Amino acid sequence: MPTPEELQRFLDIATAAAMAGGAVLQRYYGQLTSVEEKGRQGDLVTNADKESEVAVLAVMRRHLPDHAILAEESGQSADAGENDYLWAIDPLDGTTNYAHQYPFFAVSIGLLFKGEPVVGVVYAPFFNELYQAAKGLGAFCNRKPIRISATPDLAQSLLVTGFAYDRHQTDDNNYAEFNRLTHLTQGVRRGGSAAVDLAFVACGRLDGYWERGLSAWDLAAGIILVEEAGGCVTAYDQSPFQISSGRVLATNGLLHGELSQALLETRPLGHPDQYRNS
Ligand code: IPD
Ligand code: CA
Ligand code: CA
Repeated sequence: MPTPEELQRFLDIATAAAMAGGAVLQRYYGQLTSVEEKGRQGDLVTNADKESEVAVLAVMRRHLPDHAILAEESGQSADAGENDYLWAIDPLDGTTNYAHQYPFFAVSIGLLFKGEPVVGVVYAPFFNELYQAAKGLGAFCNRKPIRISATPDLAQSLLVTGFAYDRHQTDDNNYAEFNRLTHLTQGVRRGGSAAVDLAFVACGRLDGYWERGLSAWDLAAGIILVEEAGGCVTAYDQSPFQISSGRVLATNGLLHGELSQALLETRPLGHPDQYRNS
């Protein structure tokens, strides 16, 4: 495990990198020069995603040339296999929001040590909010400590979730879960940025979050934020969280069991074709 001094250094570097990426996102907000679909329906990439990643990687590589990096737009660096450290980087989490000038988006930079999130930075430039956490060092927003909510149960909760880009091809599309939890809570939001969703759970604006079909770069930073803010992060069935599963349940802890049970009890609504007009 890295020492607290090493963790602090990694956090400082990730922060500088996130700010560099965020500056690119601010520059192109409302002024995109290119928006393309990456393959799956609705999965967009813009010039801002690509240029933000270049800016983030320049800072990371300058300070940590030996660390392996997994970045959404450019993939995994070749040396990743032999390294305990892996940086998971999303240069723009919330691309659909960004492309529509809906301001929920962020740069997300997380460090995995032997697969476990240990450092996280989420920078949401539009809100001027910088979220930082490292294992054992706490969680912060704009340098002030943050803490999860005290909402005791689902009936009083405000949750957030998301729908993966493969929702058009799978019955495991989260629509049934969204219906059910909308019924059992004060509301379920669809934020459109997994990193911001998790940061909002960490600072207590939201009480819980679940989603499937995510990648390590969506999750790594937000997970350590929630954990260090006093929250609970597991698989849907409350077994230990595995980042490779792409599936996460993150809450304030108090309503974790209730939310887990509701998710496990929900059966798929059926194929998305049912929503189309015939
Ligand atoms: C997406 C966002 C969204 C989530 C998707 C992610 P992107 O990331 O985090 O909230 O629902 O599953 O892929 O494509 O905007 O980087
Ligand atoms: Ca993402
Ligand atoms: Ca992205």
